[in-house]
Amino acid sequence: MVSPLRLRATSQWLLAFALLVALVAIFFRFSFRKQHRIWTMEELAMYNGTDEGLPILLGILGSVFDVTKGRSHYGPGGGYHHFAGRDASRAFISGNFTGDGLIDSLHGLSSLEVKGIVDWRKFYFERYRYVGKLVGRYHDSQGNPTKYLKGVESKAKRAAQLEEKQKIEEAKIPSCNSKWSQEEGGEVWCETGYPRLVKRPVDIALTGRVSQRCACYKEDELGKPGLVVYDGCDYLSKVCRV
Ligand code: HEM
Ligand SMILES: *[C@@H]1O[C@H](CO)[C@@H](O)[C@H](O)[C@H]1NC(C)=O
Ligand SMILES: *[C@@H]1O[C@H](CO)[C@@H](O)[C@H](O)[C@H]1NC(C)=O
Repeated sequence: MVSPLRLRATSQWLLAFALLVALVAIFFRFSFRKQHRIWTMEELAMYNGTDEGLPILLGILGSVFDVTKGRSHYGPGGGYHHFAGRDASRAFISGNFTGDGLIDSLHGLSSLEVKGIVDWRKFYFERYRYVGKLVGRYHDSQGNPTKYLKGVESKAKRAAQLEEKQKIEEAKIPSCNSKWSQEEGGEVWCETGYPRLVKRPVDIALTGRVSQRCACYKEDELGKPGLVVYDGCDYLSKVCRV
């Protein structure tokens, strides 16, 4: 039989333990709440770095980061002060830090550009503390991702796949060497094979534009469609001026 004294000691232990668990739970909940929360644009605007007593916050794709440790960039007078207290996602790729450039709309950007902004968000996740979600274009008032954000994520994912595909395709035909100097102008050349100008087929989907590259084709490949000999360059020349 357990003595009443021991029983009392045990229940006191249990009580103390339960209290501890509850305190730890409350503490974690509290600190979690404090770090991750839902922000409105008006709230975010207060954290633009002008008030030295407040942290500096920055939004990108509706994710909010505490960039206080980068005050030299984001504080007043810093080169990237205009990113503070707002979500200027578009400017991360446009580089347009003036008035209408500082917006969160990505309308009309190519998938590669959208991926560029998603990469910037990754940079902030790695470098700074994530503090929550911004209500607006990228999150609804409950903090759920909007259709717009999902579209951005999938566009960026697609760009990554296309880039990978392009890399694999282009590795099959090596690129030309190239150099440029004031006196000599531009020059491309191949160690093995012959320089040809070719369209990069994946590019339209990635950038919305067609670009070209110089690639080195072997003699038996020179009949392939779409290969352009450089202006003023011989059919079997290994070096071409550009
Ligand atoms: C689309 C254009 C650009 C964007 C969006 C951009 C954005 C940024 C951002 C956000 C940072 C701060 C990173 C951090 O928190 O540590 C940064 C740093 C920096 N940027 Fe840019 N930048 C752009 C163009 C340029 C250009 C053209 C140059 C140079 C000619 C440049 C030079 C630098 C340097 C040197 C730093 C590091 C400064 C330091 O660590 O003290 N940036 N950039
Ligand atoms: C910047 O933040 C301060 C307070 O921290 C606020 O008074 C001011 O209106 C903000 N500026 C803008 C442009 O939102
Ligand atoms: C930046 O955006 C503004 C407003 O859309 C525009 O007037 C200006 O020409 C842009 N500047 C650059 C360098 O693209």
